[in-house]
Amino acid sequence: MVGFAQDFAAKELSGRHVLLGVSGGIAAYKAAALARELVKGGATVQVVLTPGATQFVGAATFAGLTGRPAHTGIFDEAHAIHHVRLAREADIAVFAPATANLIAKFAAGLADDLVSSTFTCLTCPVVVAPAMHTEMWSHTATQDNIATLARRGVLVVGPDEGELAGGDVGPGRLVDPATIVAAMAAALRPSRPLAGQRVVVTAGGTREPIDPVRYIGNRSSGKMGYALAAECSRRGARVELVSGPTWLPEPAGVSTHSVETALQMRDAVLELAVDADVVIKAAAVADFRPTVYHRQKIRKEHLELGSVELERNPDILAELGADRRRRQSEGAIPGPAPLLVGFAAETDLEEERGRDKLHRKGMDLIVVNRVDMADAGFNVDTNRALLLGADGLRAEVGLTTKAELAGVVCDQIEALLVQRQQS
Ligand SMILES: Cc1cc2nc3c(=O)[nH]c(=O)nc-3n(C[C@H](O)[C@H](O)[C@H](O)COP(=O)(O)O)c2cc1C
Repeated sequence: MVGFAQDFAAKELSGRHVLLGVSGGIAAYKAAALARELVKGGATVQVVLTPGATQFVGAATFAGLTGRPAHTGIFDEAHAIHHVRLAREADIAVFAPATANLIAKFAAGLADDLVSSTFTCLTCPVVVAPAMHTEMWSHTATQDNIATLARRGVLVVGPDEGELAGGDVGPGRLVDPATIVAAMAAALRPSRPLAGQRVVVTAGGTREPIDPVRYIGNRSSGKMGYALAAECSRRGARVELVSGPTWLPEPAGVSTHSVETALQMRDAVLELAVDADVVIKAAAVADFRPTVYHRQKIRKEHLELGSVELERNPDILAELGADRRRRQSEGAIPGPAPLLVGFAAETDLEEERGRDKLHRKGMDLIVVNRVDMADAGFNVDTNRALLLGADGLRAEVGLTTKAELAGVVCDQIEALLVQRQQS
C-alpha cells in the first residue's frame, strides 16, 4: 500500500500486549521498524524469533527496541514454558515477515520451534504478513496454506508487489510497517465501527445555470466521493450519496440523491445530516452562482454573457459546523452532531491553510488533496493527500488510488467513532 503515517492506528494499540513473531526472510530487518512503531504507539511488544530469523537480525536489536528479551529457543528457560505463557499474554499476535516455511507450518499445525509452538497456543487475533520471492509466493502449496489460514480467521496482509531481494521485481514484498499496524488495529476492533452507521457522502461538482443551455461548473468527476461511498457501504454503513452530475455508476448498496446546483446540494445535505452519524463532504461545490437565471437562451449577440453577475453560494460545511457547535452547546437535540469530514482541493498541500479551514469550519477531519497534478485530483483514479485531524492527527498519503485513499479515510473515521464511543 502507501507510505503514510498511521499515528492513529498505532495509538489504538496503546496499552496492548503484542506478540511479534519474526521468521527467516530477508525482510526480517523491517520487523525492527515495526517493533519500534508499536512501542512508539504505546504497545508492549514481545518478540519471538525463529532460528532462521536470527541469521538476518539479532535478538539484541529487538531487546533494545522493546525493552524485553527476545526469545528464540523453545528449550531456553524450559521451566517458563514460554510458548504457552507468551500466547496467553498476547492481546494480538503478528508474524512479520512470515516465510513460506512458517506459513506452511502454521497451516499444518506443526510446532517444532518457539514461534510455531506459540502460534498453536494463540487464542487472540492473528495477523500474518508474508514476504518471499514471487516463485515461493505463487507456489500452489503456499497459496493453499495462505487460504487455509485466512479461512481459519487469520488476517493476512500483503504481500506487496515491488522490488525484492537480489534485484527481482514482483509480488512478495513485505507491506510497510504502517500498513501492518493499521491491519492490527482493525483486527482488534470489536466490530467495524462504521457498520450500521448513517453516513452522508457528497460527490461531484455542481452546475450553476446561466440559462437553459449554459452553466458554470468545475472539473470534479465525483470519483473520490463515489470511492468513499462504496468503501463506507462495504464496511456496513447505510450510505446516502448526494451527487452532482456524473457518469459514474451508482455504488452497490448506496442510496443516491442526484442534485445539480449548490443550493440543491445544500438542501439535500442539511436534511440528511439531521440524523446522520457521519457527513463526508467530498463534492466540489461552486462558491458562486449567477445572480440572474435567464429562462430563455441568451443570444450571443447580446452583451449579458460578457458580464455574468455572480452571488455567493452558501457554505455547506460551515453551516454543518455551526449546527454541530449549536448541538454540542444545547445538549444534543435532535442528537449528537455527526462527525464532519471535509475535503480541500488545493494546488499544494498547504498544512497551515488546511488546519485553519479545519478549525474555522468545525470539522473533525480534513483531507487536503492535490488537484493540479497529472496523477492527482480531478478526473483521475489516483490521488495524493494530507489528512489533518482536530485532535492533532497528521497523516500524509503519497500517490495512491482513490479507492485506497477512501480506505485510509474510513480507517480514520472508524478510529474517531471508537474514540467518540469511549468518551
Ligand atoms: C538470503 C536468504 C533470504 C531468504 N529470504 C526468504 C524470504 O524472504 N522469504 C522466505 O519465505 N524464505 C526466505 N529464505 C528461505 C528461508 O530462510 C528458509 O525457508 C528457512 O527455512 C525459513 O525458516 P523459518 O521460517 O523457520 O525462519 C531466504 C533464505 C536466504 C538464504
